[in-house]
Amino acid sequence: MKILFAASECAPFIKTGGLADVVGALPKALASHGADVRVMLPLYPALAAVADGGEEVLDLGALMGYPARLIAAEAAGLKLLLLEAPHLYDRAGGGPYLTPEGQDWPDNPQRFAALGQAVARLVHSGADGWFPDLVHAHDWQAALGPWFLKQADSLVPSLTSIHNVAFQGLADAALGPSLGLDMAGFHADGFEYYGSISFLKAGLVASDRISTVSPTYARELMLPEFGMGLDGVIAARGGDLSGIVNGIDTEIWNPATDPDIPAPYGPRSLTRKARNRAALAKRFGLSPSEDAPLFCVISRLTRQKGLDLLIDALPALLGRGARLALLGTGDADLESAFCHSAETHPGQIGVVIGYDEALSHLMQAGADAILIPSRFEPCGLTQLYGLRYGTLPVVARTGGLADTVIDANHAALAAGTGTGVQFAPVTQPALEQAILRTCDLYADRKLWAALTRRAMRQPVGWEDSAAQYMTLYQDILSAGAEASA
Ligand code: ADP
Ligand code: GLC
Repeated sequence: MKILFAASECAPFIKTGGLADVVGALPKALASHGADVRVMLPLYPALAAVADGGEEVLDLGALMGYPARLIAAEAAGLKLLLLEAPHLYDRAGGGPYLTPEGQDWPDNPQRFAALGQAVARLVHSGADGWFPDLVHAHDWQAALGPWFLKQADSLVPSLTSIHNVAFQGLADAALGPSLGLDMAGFHADGFEYYGSISFLKAGLVASDRISTVSPTYARELMLPEFGMGLDGVIAARGGDLSGIVNGIDTEIWNPATDPDIPAPYGPRSLTRKARNRAALAKRFGLSPSEDAPLFCVISRLTRQKGLDLLIDALPALLGRGARLALLGTGDADLESAFCHSAETHPGQIGVVIGYDEALSHLMQAGADAILIPSRFEPCGLTQLYGLRYGTLPVVARTGGLADTVIDANHAALAAGTGTGVQFAPVTQPALEQAILRTCDLYADRKLWAALTRRAMRQPVGWEDSAAQYMTLYQDILSAGAEASA
């Protein structure tokens, strides 16, 4: 089965969040099921060295007015199809979407409509003889791919995956023709969204099937509280929607072999985790005391992640002698609120504003628990890294957090199944209670060690979920074959 992934991010090359982790890991898991997956990505400067070792497989002619081509290259265990269009992607700046000043590039609609057009041209012309059986588009940046396939009456089916419905890719309706869109599709059942063009909606209505990254988020997406205006569109396609929970790359995220931590460990050598804890405390200028848990946060600092609630819950955390190490970047008011907390509570709260992959590994290895008070969370990956590293997740009961963490309440403890702490509703008092409950669990050191070991043994890899994607792809292909028979 030949699958074309199309996405705007892919770890380890270019990453702003979990989308990159998924696009970097899932193809390898699918390959072990026999799939031939190629990943189409814009050729950003971060991929220039990879492209240097590749070769042209398709001349795309003019794309958004200038020449473009696809370059095939292999790196990090992935087969890449790099979309070389320097006028769109060869730019200095803050990652894939932002100018050096941190604003969205004004031509993001053109930049990612081009990605969609390149998908359709590849499906039509092939890449040096490679023709995909199915296109799997990730998030709004790739979602015009399925639309353009439909617009061209292609028989190649597609799947659009929603990683986060908060990002929809809206563009001014007047841009439509210049993006390559036939404006006959600009209506409520097409890509029109409250008077604008929505890239994500285009993918959702044009794809053969839709998926998202956890079963609970799949249900939530059909509700007005979570669907962000697309709940009706998604509910109308409820029968075509699947929720498949994300896995993690268990080779990159392996506490037994992690090169970014001072003392590699496993479930049977937990005393070594204490050395990572000491290193983490030192790095953040925190007291190394073991009387209370050391919590960590590794996150985009945005409203989605609920970290404003944590600011207000800090007195409860500090009142129990616990400590917090936070790594994140995002909204200016949250950045400054956490920096202010660190200044007023030296030794108890440590904050690093920025993006630091290696430090995130040390934090997962050294902290006792990871706090994730998200208002919504399609899947979430940091709780899965937490489980793998025996750093107990303390999570809001929403989306993928609800699906991947088992609350260590009395019944779960009696049954020997808890792996973390969940709370609901997502409010400051409920978060405070969850923090206090975590401190109580931590105080029983034998119980805590048992919880930690159990967390580390949870299956968080891609095996099961990759098998589910294979079944989904097979279903899509069989339905397509029946329809054309
Ligand atoms: P989202 O994609 O919504 O940001 P996820 O939990 O799915 O949330 O994925 C976030 C990914 O980004 C994880 O791999 C996490 O470790 C990483 N991450 C987030 N913020 C930072 C940061 N400041 N430094 C390093 N890694 C980060
Ligand atoms: C999005 C979501 C996150 C999910 C990630 C990968 O960024 O916010 O919950 O884990 O995509 O699917």
